Amino acid sequence: MGGEHEEIKRRIEALRREIEKHDYRYYVLDAPTITDAQYDRLMAELQQLEREYPHLITPDSPTQRVGGKPREGFVTVRHAVPMLSLANAFSEEDLREFDRRVKSALGGEPYDYVVELKIDGLAVSLTYRNGIFVRGATRGDGENGEDITANLKTIRSIPLRLNQPVDLLEVRGEVYMPKKSFVELNARREERGEPAFANPRNAAAGSLRQLDPAVTAGRNLTIFVYGTGEMEFAHREAPASHSEVLKFLEGLGLRVNTHYQVCRNIDEAISYCRIWQNRKAELPYAIDGMVIKVNSLAQQALLGTTMKSPRWAVAFKFPPEQAETTVRDIIVSVGRTGVITPTAILEPVFLAGSTVSRATLHNEDIIRDKDIRIGDRVIVHKAGDVIPEVVEVLKEKRTGAEKIFTMPRACPACGAEVVRQTNEAAHRCTGAACPAQLLEGLIHFASRGAMDIAGLGPAVVKQLVDSGLVRDVSDLYRLTAEQVKGLERFADKSAENLINAIAESKSNPLHRLIFALGIRHVGERAARILAEHFGDIRRIMDAGYEELVAIPEIGPKIAESVIAFMHEPQNRALIERLVKNGVNVVAEKTTAAAQNGKLAGKTFVLTGTLASLKRDEAKKLIESRGGKVSSSVSKKTDYVVAGDSPGSKYDKAVQLGVAIIDEREFLDLIGE
Ligand code: IVH
Repeated sequence: MGGEHEEIKRRIEALRREIEKHDYRYYVLDAPTITDAQYDRLMAELQQLEREYPHLITPDSPTQRVGGKPREGFVTVRHAVPMLSLANAFSEEDLREFDRRVKSALGGEPYDYVVELKIDGLAVSLTYRNGIFVRGATRGDGENGEDITANLKTIRSIPLRLNQPVDLLEVRGEVYMPKKSFVELNARREERGEPAFANPRNAAAGSLRQLDPAVTAGRNLTIFVYGTGEMEFAHREAPASHSEVLKFLEGLGLRVNTHYQVCRNIDEAISYCRIWQNRKAELPYAIDGMVIKVNSLAQQALLGTTMKSPRWAVAFKFPPEQAETTVRDIIVSVGRTGVITPTAILEPVFLAGSTVSRATLHNEDIIRDKDIRIGDRVIVHKAGDVIPEVVEVLKEKRTGAEKIFTMPRACPACGAEVVRQTNEAAHRCTGAACPAQLLEGLIHFASRGAMDIAGLGPAVVKQLVDSGLVRDVSDLYRLTAEQVKGLERFADKSAENLINAIAESKSNPLHRLIFALGIRHVGERAARILAEHFGDIRRIMDAGYEELVAIPEIGPKIAESVIAFMHEPQNRALIERLVKNGVNVVAEKTTAAAQNGKLAGKTFVLTGTLASLKRDEAKKLIESRGGKVSSSVSKKTDYVVAGDSPGSKYDKAVQLGVAIIDEREFLDLIGE
């Protein structure tokens, strides 16, 4: 028994080392050596072993990056060494002035500089004790910051364990969001009607200050480290210069930017700054300048600091890049989820490395606030160095011929009514058969939790749409195996399987159909409530606002959205077509008699929070099918249904070898 245990411990440790190595290769070196699938297998094996042997879980295990629960607020932490900011230089003359001060303070000693990129993100402090990441904090006011350890742990380029167990090491660096992720995040936010972040720094800050680490985990943040704070070394020599510090940090497995240069004098430093000023558009992340630091740490100490900033470093800020041009037109486009976004068509102008001919206007409010009109002369810049935006209108240049823009009332792609919901900045198309939304709509319709059509994933959906066979979800139910066989990569068998799966979905319970329709704000839970209350989709089509808001848990937002959806003639026609094609639109009478026996004799224990059901609802579902719910786990328990943050019942189930199922598996089991 002891021997086996040792072996498991060794396997767990080997898996952790292996995963850390691949995290390092992927997230720090950007040079992976295994496929995602191979990586996932290692992770799955580790997770499985840790599930079986929970007492072997350590906080630095790669499985523990996202696991923290949302918190109430952040705890304040005091920085042992204050986190200073940098004095700014805006011109070559400012830099030469900085150099003169350094020269005179060092009294003729020779010195050199390290010149680095100034990353446009958020300064953080990472503390490692004996090589283990124990605390991460924001800069705050420099003296006190906020403890954001759980959020920083989700950043995969931050090692949870260093290559060497240095006694105490506080590392400082910049957390940032790559340009590509910034563009994608803003696009997603606009799709959801949320305000866009102005630049990657705000995006990084907003993502790090999340009370729920799971949100941070989804934001694709990364880090460059550029210095140290507190340090205690027992057995090794401390670095003597900043360039050695960078090498030392790199050697520990931390992510250090490779674009830096040791410069022998201020001329070399200025030349290096100019190189990156001209080339910054090539970088996959935004920089807002360069940082020039005296290299020798002894000389840094000699120069000392002022209250706010070190005398041995300066930030050279790039001037904001702007250009003047004319708004030729304002057009609107329909996104994948129906958001209508206005875009300015510009007279082409060269700006920050590329020719710009369009600028996003985000939404109607922004156009109104900035008073942007067709024909206006405007100043444009690139948010986060990538997204062209109108900064301001040059109103003094107006001729009187400029035209005020208004949002269209009908969707440019399908003609359905365009609505703007209360408290939302975005306008949306309400058409469920809108071609602009078809792909997303179909993928959602077929997904698990919705109509759950096996074999109808995104790739097949795309084939069906591209071939013209499916123009709205009701077309799915008219497809024939013959038609599907004609598509690439489909054999007779797979075509028939798909047609069968589609046919089976016709008799799904009503709540699945309601959810599948993709009505805004109507998630799985609201769909269940609506199905239960109305019992027939045709009754929902004619429901009034008052009736809807009177239903427990249905608030104004959902009610408004259901009404907008059901009022759109295109959607009513779609539902009629679904009915005609044989899709079930009435709720089953889920009487005990109808389902009796399915779970007869089975005992369930519920633990943790379920996403779509309250505990007493889950209990009812089990009991109505003849099952029993018990409050404690024993050998007689058949299933433990584990939601989020399960308690000790989970561990007990693992110990006793009782089957543990998640919410999805539970719903499948009871046939919901
Ligand atoms: S050194 C004591 N190096 O710029 C000086 N800062 O205004 C410590 N930053 O708060 C800063 N890239 O958030 C340093 N390569 C770099 C940097 C950098 C970005 C940020 C950092 C700092 C701010 C200074």
